[in-house]
Amino acid sequence: MSAAAKRAEQLRAELREHNERYYLQDDPSIGDDQYDALLDELREIERQHPELVTADSPTQRIGAEPVSALEKVTHPQAMFSLANARSAEEFDGWVLRMRNHLAREGIENAAFQYVCEPKVDGLAISIVYRNGLLERGATRGNGEVGEDVTHNLRTIGTVPLSIDDAPAMIEVRGEVYMSLEDFQKLNERRASDGKPTFMNPRNAAAGTLRQLDPRLAAERPLSLWAYGVGACEGVSFSSQWETLEWLRQRGFPVNSEIELLGSEQEAIDRCLEWQQRRGSISFEIDGVVIKVDDAEQQRRLGVVGRDPRWAVAWKFPPTTKLTQLKAIEWSVGKFGDLHPFAVLEPVEVGGVVVQYATLHNEEDMSRKDLRPGDEVIILRAGDVIPQVVSPAPHAAERKGRSRPVGAPKKCPVCSAATVKPENSVFTKCPNRDCEGRREALLTHFVSRGAMDVDGLGEKLVVMLLQKGLIENAADLYSLTVTQLAALEGMGELSAQGIIASLEASKQRPFASVLFALGIEGVGEVTGRSLAQRLRTIDALLAADVDEISQTPGVGPIVGELITAQLADAQMRRLVGRLRAAGLQFEQDGPPPGEGPLADKSFVLTGTLPTLTREQASEKILAAGGRVTSSVSKKTDYLVAGEAAGSKLEKAERLAVAVLDETALLALLGEG
Ligand code: IVH
Repeated sequence: MSAAAKRAEQLRAELREHNERYYLQDDPSIGDDQYDALLDELREIERQHPELVTADSPTQRIGAEPVSALEKVTHPQAMFSLANARSAEEFDGWVLRMRNHLAREGIENAAFQYVCEPKVDGLAISIVYRNGLLERGATRGNGEVGEDVTHNLRTIGTVPLSIDDAPAMIEVRGEVYMSLEDFQKLNERRASDGKPTFMNPRNAAAGTLRQLDPRLAAERPLSLWAYGVGACEGVSFSSQWETLEWLRQRGFPVNSEIELLGSEQEAIDRCLEWQQRRGSISFEIDGVVIKVDDAEQQRRLGVVGRDPRWAVAWKFPPTTKLTQLKAIEWSVGKFGDLHPFAVLEPVEVGGVVVQYATLHNEEDMSRKDLRPGDEVIILRAGDVIPQVVSPAPHAAERKGRSRPVGAPKKCPVCSAATVKPENSVFTKCPNRDCEGRREALLTHFVSRGAMDVDGLGEKLVVMLLQKGLIENAADLYSLTVTQLAALEGMGELSAQGIIASLEASKQRPFASVLFALGIEGVGEVTGRSLAQRLRTIDALLAADVDEISQTPGVGPIVGELITAQLADAQMRRLVGRLRAAGLQFEQDGPPPGEGPLADKSFVLTGTLPTLTREQASEKILAAGGRVTSSVSKKTDYLVAGEAAGSKLEKAERLAVAVLDETALLALLGEG
């Protein structure tokens, strides 16, 4: 094998392992930059040696050609749907029907074990693997015939492109979905780009998966939960539980909270528990699927119409409701942008009374032609901000009594005359001292992802502003426990907690501080790119438009916008004060490819005497080194602790240098 072929193979193995750590174990050992560097190296090898490209190479996830239409695909085995149960009585009815069915076959008083799985609200797909390679993925369609979405499925990081120890053919079934957070972000982004928003995460996932161009799918974060197997050759399963275990072992994402239960009562209890917890799960579930575990029992129970007798869906109440849109009002965003929101006839959705819902922006609102007085459909799921997704079907029959609502001519908070800048989907309040704008800016500053100040949210920000205790972000850092404890509804203990959170926020990385500042055009991602490229606030403040525009994801127009805001005297004063308060204004660690351990690759194994593996990794990364998970000839150092096993043997065989903790610290200059 040539050196290039070997390196390509090794890179693929490493990338696959990092992918698994990132997506399945939620425990990445390298940063995005390092991952990209490995991927780039592999791309370069494959460019020079096209004969080395394999179908399951991580480079093949993106970059497939758009398709001209979605081809029809007949599923190797029909995809079923599920009968519903909405109460314990209906559940008992299901069990009774199964018992009766088996009794007719001569099996009296059958006992069942049940697998309880969350019923994810996405779309069902079938993925065929032939000889271990992903061959084709298709949507459910009508159950017999679906649509070929292979090009888009490949872009989903959690979908394995190949599987080890594979049978000749296997059809993996699962649900493709979009997390609630990703759904909300996608809708916000679409709203600010002036595009129509999606009704719910399921529509967003379906719309994405059915795109013809895989680049569009790659930009939108989809995920997969695998929950079963359809047709297969060369392997068989004796139970649902065994099937899930098999899938899990081969790298498919299988929900870790799926349980095997021994009685009906336990299954019902579990359904009720899932229902309770529904709002705190990061993706939308519309029920629980209960499946008889034993494959032989499943076979005997068979299928009625489209529904297998051996499974049932415990359905939750819907997360959409009908209510009346009483009025359309406007709130002021952190850049003065005016956001329309709906004042609703209060209605209970998923255990919470909803009174307000977002309308995204003027365009979305007029596209849906929403008017006060209309009946509307609202969606509230998990932590997603409630949204008005559409007028109810009969709203169009309104008899001319209502009129469309336009953006206000005056700011609803400070009464300044509003403006509608070209290229903006939002009408704006131009007054920089607008109280509404200040509130939004400060609420953003303390939010998660920005300074992440625990215990400090919108309500308290408003109170602090009203009492005149703060005017801007820097003032937060001069607050005292006594000042906070004197506020209505606040105890000494909570006050101490908030001061401690503010103190802790001083350790937030430079990228988060840049994001927190509330610079138009600097989101989380751009904040990170700017921090990585320019390294320090001084360099950033000194940078000219060209330099800023060259930052990935910025470009000339946004570059201009960012530069202007950074040049502003008020912004510079704020930065100066935050700096004096002790916030991070420099990027940690050397730029990628620099530092004392630049380009050195490390593998960690065993238990170190004082450092955890994460701490050791961080130190190596901070010095510019790379941490990978498997030992190869390219490994520069193996850091071995107590109970090091096969990795140590391999390192010795390959004559890779072995370090203990002391030697590592010495190498880092800390010894
Ligand atoms: S099993 C028994 N398991 O629910 C074969 N379906 O109404 C039927 N779904 O089309 C599918 N989570 O889209 C199964 N853990 C799960 C599921 C699940 C979500 C969806 C799937 C299916 C629909 C059935």
